[in-house]
Amino acid sequence: MSDSLERFQSELLRFVRSVYVGDERRVVYGEGAVGALLMLIGEAPGEQEALQGRPFVGRAGKNLEAFLALAGLSREALYITNAVKFRPTKLSASGRVTNRPPTREEIALMRPWLLREIALVRPRCIATLGNVPLQAVTGARQTVGEAHGTRVEAPDAPCPVFALYHPASLLYRRSLTPVYERDVAALVAFLRTL
Ligand code: URA
Repeated sequence: MSDSLERFQSELLRFVRSVYVGDERRVVYGEGAVGALLMLIGEAPGEQEALQGRPFVGRAGKNLEAFLALAGLSREALYITNAVKFRPTKLSASGRVTNRPPTREEIALMRPWLLREIALVRPRCIATLGNVPLQAVTGARQTVGEAHGTRVEAPDAPCPVFALYHPASLLYRRSLTPVYERDVAALVAFLRTL
C-alpha cells in the first residue's frame, strides 16, 4: 500500500502517544498541499498552535503573514510544518506552563517523521526557519548564523533546502531585519529558477 498523509498522521499520533504514555501531548500536523512550491519548516508548536491544533497561528501566524508579503507568495504555495510536532513545555518559577526549545532527544526522535513527511509532500523546495529545523533536515550541526540566505547540503532531502532565520528571532534582534529581508529575496530568486 502506498504511503499517504492520512496514514502518516495516524501513525505519528500513535507513536507520540506510545512514547509519552500518560502525558497528553497534542500533536500538531503540517498543513498545505502535496507538491507545494515551498515547504516551510519551523521549530515546534507554541501555546496557540497546541490549543488550535494548527501550525503557525497566533503570533507566529503574524510572522508567517509578514514572510508571505515579503516573498510575494500566497499561503496556497506553501506546506507549513514543524521539526517537532508537539509543544515542548516547562514549568516556570511561578508555576506557569511555558514554551521551551525542543531537546536534542526530541529532535532526533521526530527526525524520521519529518523526513517521511517531506517524502510524502514532495515540495519543490524547503526553507528551514532557525537552527532546529536546519539541523533536523540536514542532519548536520551547522547554525543558521553560518547558513542563512543560502542553499545547504541536505543528503536526506529530495529537493533543495534553503536556510532562513526564524522570523520570531527578528523580534529579539532587530538588527537581523535587513539580513532576513535579503535572505528572503535570495530565496524568492532561487524559487524562480525552479
Ligand atoms: N509556531 C510554530 O508552529 N512553529 C514555530 O516554529 C513557532 C511558532
